[in-house]
Amino acid sequence: KEQQSTPSTSGSEHLNSGTTPANINWDELGFGIDHTAPYMYRATYHPGSGWEGGLEPYGPLQLDPSAQVLNYGQSVFEGMKAQRSAKGNIVLFRPDENAARMMAGADRLSMPPPPPELFLDAVLSTCRANAHYVPPQGKGSLYMRPLLLGTGSILGLGPAPSYSLVVYAAAVGAYFKTGQLTPIDLIVEERFHRAAPGGMGGTKAAGNYSPVLVVQLAAKQAGYADVVYLDAKTDTYLEEVSSCNIFVVKGNTIKTPPLAGTILPGVTRKSVIQLARQLGYEVEETNVTVTEAMDADEIFTTGTAVVVSAVGSLTHRVSTTSSIHDKSQRGLCDFLDRVCPLATWPVKQQSRDGGWVC
Ligand code: COI
Repeated sequence: KEQQSTPSTSGSEHLNSGTTPANINWDELGFGIDHTAPYMYRATYHPGSGWEGGLEPYGPLQLDPSAQVLNYGQSVFEGMKAQRSAKGNIVLFRPDENAARMMAGADRLSMPPPPPELFLDAVLSTCRANAHYVPPQGKGSLYMRPLLLGTGSILGLGPAPSYSLVVYAAAVGAYFKTGQLTPIDLIVEERFHRAAPGGMGGTKAAGNYSPVLVVQLAAKQAGYADVVYLDAKTDTYLEEVSSCNIFVVKGNTIKTPPLAGTILPGVTRKSVIQLARQLGYEVEETNVTVTEAMDADEIFTTGTAVVVSAVGSLTHRVSTTSSIHDKSQRGLCDFLDRVCPLATWPVKQQSRDGGWVC
């Protein structure tokens, strides 16, 4: 739904006087905190008094060293984007889905779920207060990062006695350094798993994201954009990429791993499934073997940060020796052309091993 770009919401009008920041070059936005927006939202929860808070200038949080989140990691987060529509209004994409996911994550980590109205008010008022940080249409977005943190102090293992809901924002561009339209190279990870059955892989917990760094950094050094994880039980099925969900396309059928507790229920994932079905594709939420992926016509990833990214190549090293079996996939094909008919997809000539099959 379109929101007015300069609405007057109680509590935020006095903050909404910013002019376009002079130091931002909208044509050179990356995905980072170079352009953090000046206002954030912070509410605290105490048993008995519930949630209380509002907008304040962006700045450090003051935490005791004994804060639960610093010791035991009681923390979930969300990622959302505010963008300008063709009419110049500011639009958010399905924020109610993020509200519901944060509530589910809060339950999983024994935190008080912020009511959806509070979550939405926090996000909308942060967005309105920082409206001048929403890039012009087509130049990027205002990435909004809601956090739910166990900020109260505790020493023995247990839930925090108090919590904070924080929403901050930054003007961002494409997630991958190569830009939104360049297909990414992925590698299948063989040593580590992202999540195990019965764990919390289906939760947007902060703790799911740092364990991937060790392999992600190594993959980046080797020239890959990110890593694809296999299931922890059989090492056979695709799970997800460190930063996003994954889809494989063969003919008119699109497959993506099912929501069985180990992968993140992505909002973009859900939306792409709906859109693909409307476009006439057969979409299966089912186990996808890595062998099937190597044989797919095309592969793409979805996520709030990555949007929809074409995969240019997928590498699967079948042994720990240096034998590399690259198989290129058509990264830019039918599906993406139909989803984004106006985009001009660059054509990549060959993959890492020269075996481009597009
Ligand atoms: C997002 O897609 O918004 C995320 O939170 C993923 C993160 C790794 C950037």
